[in-house]
Amino acid sequence: MFGFIPFGLVLMVVAFIYFRAQNQRRRVLDSLSLPPTTKTLAFFHPYCNAGGGGERVLWVAVAYTQRTRPDILCVVYTGDIGATKESILEKAQSRFSITLDPSRLHFVFLTKRILVEDSTYPHLTLIGQSMGSVGLVLEALSYFMPHAYIDTMGYAFTLPVVRLFGIPAGAYVHYPTVSPPMISRVARPIKLAYYHAFMMLYALALRRAQVLMVNSTWTRKHVAAVLAYPPTLGWGVVRPRVVYPSCDTREMEKLPLESREQIILSIAQFRPEKDHAMQIRALHALLQAHPEYSKVELILIGGCRNEQDQARVDGLRQLAQDLGVQDRVTFRLNEPYPSMLAYLRRASVGLNTMLDEHFGINVVEFMAAGVIPIVHASGGPLEDIVVPFEGKNTGYHAKTPETFAEAIHAAFSLSPQEDRAMRQRARTWAVQQFSEAEFEAGWEASGWEKLLQ
Ligand SMILES: *[C@@H]1O[C@H](CO)[C@@H](O)[C@H](O)[C@H]1NC(C)=O
Repeated sequence: MFGFIPFGLVLMVVAFIYFRAQNQRRRVLDSLSLPPTTKTLAFFHPYCNAGGGGERVLWVAVAYTQRTRPDILCVVYTGDIGATKESILEKAQSRFSITLDPSRLHFVFLTKRILVEDSTYPHLTLIGQSMGSVGLVLEALSYFMPHAYIDTMGYAFTLPVVRLFGIPAGAYVHYPTVSPPMISRVARPIKLAYYHAFMMLYALALRRAQVLMVNSTWTRKHVAAVLAYPPTLGWGVVRPRVVYPSCDTREMEKLPLESREQIILSIAQFRPEKDHAMQIRALHALLQAHPEYSKVELILIGGCRNEQDQARVDGLRQLAQDLGVQDRVTFRLNEPYPSMLAYLRRASVGLNTMLDEHFGINVVEFMAAGVIPIVHASGGPLEDIVVPFEGKNTGYHAKTPETFAEAIHAAFSLSPQEDRAMRQRARTWAVQQFSEAEFEAGWEASGWEKLLQ
């Protein structure tokens, strides 16, 4: 007999949540004059107004949903309480040229974003932020319960919470919160135990995603390793699918492929991992082996954010001097966009020397601009970007100053027909592979629509 009391209580709570959710949904749909049967798809993106690559993915996905599924209302959970719906839409337009339909878009503003800010947790940041995201998604659900949910910012711990309320959930992952290679760098036993425990929880949370997309091959490898970490006990685990974010290459595609100069271009922030020194050494090696390239120029374009960056640039200038190639090297700091395009128009080849770069959007830009890419044989440039197209090369890979120099020489020695054909191939491939249409096709193929059934 007493068993009925807790049972009845649970039933009441469930009924309360259910009716409240119905009411809230109806109010929102009414305010937008949408039919009460409209399905709602929510995106969890607490920093939706940040204007970065992750936000571009969000808006392309929302725009695509709006275009192809007029029967759906997109809802975005955001913590940008200083912004308004109008200002967010304006920014999507000005920053990304993405037009969103305000009549089928609803924002839910969250006041507790501080729960996921890393500055909130000086210690145990991983656990802190993850638990914080649970709090934040509870706030989100208390304002609005959608029919389906997609996390587009990497808050995996929100997935089990959402599923607990019976809402189907998916995720688009840009970067794993933690992964086995990160753990292998941890030395202290206590910290190691913490990381292992955390990764176990992270994997269990991520497994609650019914649809799982990742932004690159690198991310897929790491996410797959995380998912395989705890034993699955025979449960099927959804496989992550690579859906590349689209790159905006419209301006670059327009540049003519012909009349290129002997310019070697580099576009990368002056950060140590970009390894600009390798580029200067490659130029030196090239001139040693082939003095005939006395007119060649290496142009280094890059953002220089602070004194450390400036010191690094000074060091690079010194290196050029020491190697006696200073006359052939030009630094262009914080170059405005139109001027960067002008260099992309003139350059023959483009360098990317970073080891294990996760992606390398600058390489996509080289290719779209018709600049032949010569990239480090690792990471995204090797696996995702500079790959054969129609059975032929779209650029070169190298690992040392000498092999970079050889690749530059090889590119400079192409016959006019081969030269033109390679530029065209690189452009066609990059523009198509990282286009919005390709992103949309991948998004579609992920099966997200089954979340709404
Ligand atoms: C994937 O996301 C990470 C983290 O934001 C970023 O560093 C990387 O460049 C992204 N990859 C692609 C293909 O955009």
